[in-house]
Amino acid sequence: METRHNFGSKIGAVLASAGSAVGLGNVWRFPTEVGNNGGAAFIFIYLICIAVIGIPVMMSEFLIGRNTHANTISAFAKLAPGKWWRIEGVAGVFVAFLILSYYIVISGWTLFYLIESLGGQLQADKDYGLVFNDFVSNPWLPVLTGAAFMGLTHFIIARGVQSGIEKSSKLMMPLLLFIIGILVVCSFSMPGSSEGLRFLLKPDFSKLKASVILSAVGQAFFSLSLAMGCLCTYASYFRADTKLTKTAVGVSTIDTVVAILSGFIIFPAVFSVNGVNVDAGPGLVFITLPNVFNIAFSHLPLLGYVFSGFFYLLLLLAALTSAISLHESVTAYVLEAFHVSRRKAAAAVSVSCMALGVLCSLSFGVLGDLTLFGMNIFELFDYTASKIILPIGGIIICLFTGWYLDRKLVENELTNGGTLRFRLFRLYYFIIRYVAPFAIAAVFVQELLA
Ligand code: PFF
Repeated sequence: METRHNFGSKIGAVLASAGSAVGLGNVWRFPTEVGNNGGAAFIFIYLICIAVIGIPVMMSEFLIGRNTHANTISAFAKLAPGKWWRIEGVAGVFVAFLILSYYIVISGWTLFYLIESLGGQLQADKDYGLVFNDFVSNPWLPVLTGAAFMGLTHFIIARGVQSGIEKSSKLMMPLLLFIIGILVVCSFSMPGSSEGLRFLLKPDFSKLKASVILSAVGQAFFSLSLAMGCLCTYASYFRADTKLTKTAVGVSTIDTVVAILSGFIIFPAVFSVNGVNVDAGPGLVFITLPNVFNIAFSHLPLLGYVFSGFFYLLLLLAALTSAISLHESVTAYVLEAFHVSRRKAAAAVSVSCMALGVLCSLSFGVLGDLTLFGMNIFELFDYTASKIILPIGGIIICLFTGWYLDRKLVENELTNGGTLRFRLFRLYYFIIRYVAPFAIAAVFVQELLA
């Protein structure tokens, strides 16, 4: 069996975890949620969710992973031998696998749009709704782009923890932040962008309903990659001197800043073009934005070319760093449980996940009529993963850390054996025992009833 590697540096640990968190959820889903839920009021609630629930749950995942230095399933089994808690580890790995199978489909779309935009194909006056529908319902093209994306993910995972995950995160995350900076400046400089800024900065609290608060909790969980075994797996590669609390705060901050900056990229651009809807839902980045790029930059095609190229590159990088964490969560389990080489484990995961990915991709076309409970395969996977397994997993992690684990073990891990001060420990412990599990349960019930 392979020797287990750690991340070589603390910054590598932060950037890899931030890479997992920053993904399509930030650049695509967050602005959509903001658009649908009243702009700044949603952002305000979202920030509270990140601080009060997101960071404490992330710290819990970190401490479980770092304490055991094992894949997620073994981590729970080690801390609670012979107990049912290991089911949570199994659920974490399973849900990572499930999410990866449809995450690669959307990631493949971003690859296609990047190629199209670099080829100048997004600069013509076309019906982009039609272009998008033609593409996703094509039987082979999205499968091909999904497979190419899986190939990239596989390549990084097969190279290992330090030369694959850590090295690529150290390269891709700074590049991603740099691109965001360029795009924010571009977007702000578009005429009429101030409308979009007002929408993002001026809260309309009359839109605040219970469902908005619950959407914010759901978005926070997805965006921070919580309850999917990814952060637990990454934390199992943290060194003994990595500060878990500081890392959780750092990762959550990067993730939140990227989400908000994505709003600052998209809304001023969209508002600068009259007649384009803000809350265009999932089509926002694949239908609305190509339209916006075209109309807004019709007099400056070169700038439009640069803007759209950078935008889809940003999406691709964000998707890739998240996909590798989902892949690693499963690969780490396969390689440690079945005592096979990393290459073999990664190949088994890539191939089997791609097989499911093909079904997800085809559910936008030839398999569109294959439904269960009124959902096609893609929707069914998304629903099962993010609406059912994920919230239950979140609750179990809170109960496990707050009620099952010995309080001394938890405090010891968060303070690196008592060498660090953690003044807010009692607050953290209170949240993880009482506040977070109830808040997540409320989301879960509301989603089921919706
Ligand atoms: N956090 C990622 C995003 O915002 O797109 C998605 C994700 C990655 C979810 C890894 C879960 C995960 F384990």
